[in-house]
Amino acid sequence: MSKWWPDEIAHAGVEHLDPEYVAAFDRKSPTDWSGRVESLSQLGVGPTSTVVDIGAGTGSFVLAVQPYVGRVIAVDASPAMVALMRSRGIEAVEGGFLTYDHEDGQVDLVHSRHALHHLPDFWKAVALDRVAKMLEPGGALILEDIVYSVAPSEAATAIGRWLEDAPTDPALGWTAGELAEHVRTEQSTFSWLLEQILDRAGFDIADRRYSENQITAAYTCRLR
Ligand SMILES: C[S@@+](CC[C@H](N)C(=O)[O-])C[C@H]1O[C@@H](n2cnc3c(N)ncnc32)[C@H](O)[C@@H]1O
Repeated sequence: MSKWWPDEIAHAGVEHLDPEYVAAFDRKSPTDWSGRVESLSQLGVGPTSTVVDIGAGTGSFVLAVQPYVGRVIAVDASPAMVALMRSRGIEAVEGGFLTYDHEDGQVDLVHSRHALHHLPDFWKAVALDRVAKMLEPGGALILEDIVYSVAPSEAATAIGRWLEDAPTDPALGWTAGELAEHVRTEQSTFSWLLEQILDRAGFDIADRRYSENQITAAYTCRLR
């Protein structure tokens, strides 16, 4: 790698490298993936498809989708996350948006939730360009993250409300203090910036969902 290429582990969030945090992660972030898994058939993703989940964490999406597709590869920058996934029988690769090279056949869907915000916008663009290169035209990307769909002038109000609604027990979710730290120190960006980046990488947004509080967004995209 070039001298100017960032070390993804250094950007991955220290908590994600901590085996204790990793072991408690599913309780902090429980997810019912059934709706998303059901929606995949509309994208033509099925029993012969290959899916790559980037920033796969503990592998909860991988385990949910695995029975319905041909192969799922879980990619994560954190060795502790990868170790946990391997202990669950998942095909997990240590790497990330900026380092994973898919060399083994066609990828039909790239999935990523709550991981791209670890990279600054320049590197988000490089990352999504690399994702596009993994796919054939028509290939699908599902990207969900903390993405602010609020106008900059209203950001303080929206973020204030988000923090007010946060749980108080850090074992069961992200507390106001943790969310405030996210806003202060992580690289979540505005929807209008991220959507430009998706477009520049060659993706058409087929479905776009902003959360009611204007703090998260989920995109289903097709590569042109
Ligand atoms: C908040 S967790 C989300 C995990 C999972 N996707 C989920 O939705 O439950 C973020 C994950 O992204 C990983 N990560 C951080 N930076 C990354 C990068 N540049 N490439 C790949 N994974 C990364 C972290 O190690 C962590 O497992």
